[in-house]
Amino acid sequence: MTDAVVVAEGLHKSYGDTPVLRGVGLTLHRGEVLALLGPNGAGKTTTVKILSTLLPLDGGSATVAGYDVVRDAAQVRRHISLTGQQVALDLKATGLENLTMIAKLSRVPRRQVKARVAELLDGVGLADVAGRRVATYSGGMRRRLDLAAGLIARPRVLFLDEPTTGLDPRSRRDLWELVRDVVAGGTSLFLTTQYLEEADELADRIALIDHGVVAAQGTADELKRRVGQARVELDLADAADALRIRTAFPDIADTASDTSAASPTVALATDGSLAHVRELIAGVESTGVVPASWRLREPTLDDVFLTLTGHAAHAPDAPEPGTTITQEKAA
Ligand SMILES: Nc1ncnc2c1ncn2[C@@H]1O[C@H](COP(=O)(O)OP(=O)(O)OP(=O)(O)O)[C@@H](O)[C@H]1O
Ligand SMILES: [Mg+2]
Repeated sequence: MTDAVVVAEGLHKSYGDTPVLRGVGLTLHRGEVLALLGPNGAGKTTTVKILSTLLPLDGGSATVAGYDVVRDAAQVRRHISLTGQQVALDLKATGLENLTMIAKLSRVPRRQVKARVAELLDGVGLADVAGRRVATYSGGMRRRLDLAAGLIARPRVLFLDEPTTGLDPRSRRDLWELVRDVVAGGTSLFLTTQYLEEADELADRIALIDHGVVAAQGTADELKRRVGQARVELDLADAADALRIRTAFPDIADTASDTSAASPTVALATDGSLAHVRELIAGVESTGVVPASWRLREPTLDDVFLTLTGHAAHAPDAPEPGTTITQEKAA
């Protein structure tokens, strides 16, 4: 593909004897958002560090904006920005001072610094608080400032490593809005996240990473199709009922869910037709099992992750408040 701005093939990386990336391959097309989605420790940050030339690779190859990350590292760095889990803003300085400093360090022509900084502060909704010290900013405000910092040099590819981890739902939504604006402005975005919802919401394409391997790649719809059509989900009284349902529908009952739970849920895959749903419901009735409740549900990315990797993607719904971007995340 000629419009690819990031291409990684067979990336390998080990720390000591521990392999962390075991053949990561992925593609980001121009103007798109790619979400690298995976649980803690899957290898997201490591992948981003390799692609942004911060970390050498042990095997495989990658190009970013058309440049090889090893041979043309300096060129790669000219065309990208990275805002990540460990970014150092000067907390004692104001938002305005921080951006001005970064603009002066980057290739923004002197005479344009002031206007560019003002434009960005406005764009990320921080114009009103630009004169306040960053130490007084909320987590969401810091992330937005961080995003503005990443945009100063007008990168072709912007890497955002878990941009909303630690934010409350409201701030997260605000940041999503902002990210959409950035992409509408023509920047290609490489995003990592552990939130399925975030990938679903923002990404044109998603690469699922687990234990250093990209298990699947595609649009959210393509990935969901891999786990089939709508499912009939049954909330059951106990493990015995769950076993009866699984025995009655050996080919279409999901076996991944935990039936030892107090009130287990078992899902039956349908072919998406009304006739099949009707047939399944009749089939459930004829087993004598009476579900406490039931519903018809479209597959989610969670189902995809579970199906392709054998475990859930662990998306913590209640992120730790007060995480700051200057704080290094515990590995
Ligand atoms: N400098 C290092 N030395 C040794 N092991 C490391 C180092 N950095 C990362 N690792 C390990 O490599 C694996 C992948 O780490 P990575 O930071 O890429 O994961 P991640 O997907 O970004 O996770 P998270 O969602 O927690 O940020 C983890 O098992 C981690 O402990
Ligand atoms: Mg990480």
